[in-house]
Amino acid sequence: MLLHVRAVLTPEEVSRAREILSKAPWEDGRLTAGEQSARAKNNEQLREDCDETRAVQKMVLGGLQRQETFFSAALPKQISPPLFNRYGGSSNSFDNHVDSAVRYLRNGAGRVRTDVSCTLFLSDPASYDGGDLVIEDTFGPQRVKLPAGDLVLYPGTSVHRVLPVTRGIRVASYFWIQSMIRSDEQRRLLFDMDNHLRHLRSHFGETDPGVVGLTSTYHNLLRMWLDV
Ligand code: NI
Repeated sequence: MLLHVRAVLTPEEVSRAREILSKAPWEDGRLTAGEQSARAKNNEQLREDCDETRAVQKMVLGGLQRQETFFSAALPKQISPPLFNRYGGSSNSFDNHVDSAVRYLRNGAGRVRTDVSCTLFLSDPASYDGGDLVIEDTFGPQRVKLPAGDLVLYPGTSVHRVLPVTRGIRVASYFWIQSMIRSDEQRRLLFDMDNHLRHLRSHFGETDPGVVGLTSTYHNLLRMWLDV
């Protein structure tokens, strides 16, 4: 499932994030790339252990907390600390690759299975050319370039790339989620059902017997598939 989540950060938060990140010590993205992705990767990223990363991480995680749609779609068991990358000038693209299945957290703080990948756009799309995130999907390649503050969520299993940025600078945050529901197919069914239920609730109210019955079916499916 590929999902666009709008306004994870407010315009004010986006400006503040951009301001902080513009003063940060960016470094070559290849430093942390695996063998295969080092050949594909040509961007810059921010170290995990600097104040700028920590400050904007907090904003991103705070923004996610306000997003019901995000939780319904991702059903997160664990979210990896958000990281930041930058594309522009001669470090401007990331060719086809698949993200590692496991993300090891710093200081032995555990690991996250990358069921779901997320990119949160931080640059105004009018301020740069190129830089689309292209995700290979069963429906064919999907090109994604979102307003600043918006997020795309997609299966960690997808091959994806970032097209060369030919003007301006593209800054984004990216992170992974280990979901309580490992299968993308099951997660999508639950998300659809949750959306339909929300619709039914608004029409018939919380106490309608059909709404109560289907809500229990939703939770029973969740219970059957859940990994907590
Ligand atoms: Ni990637």
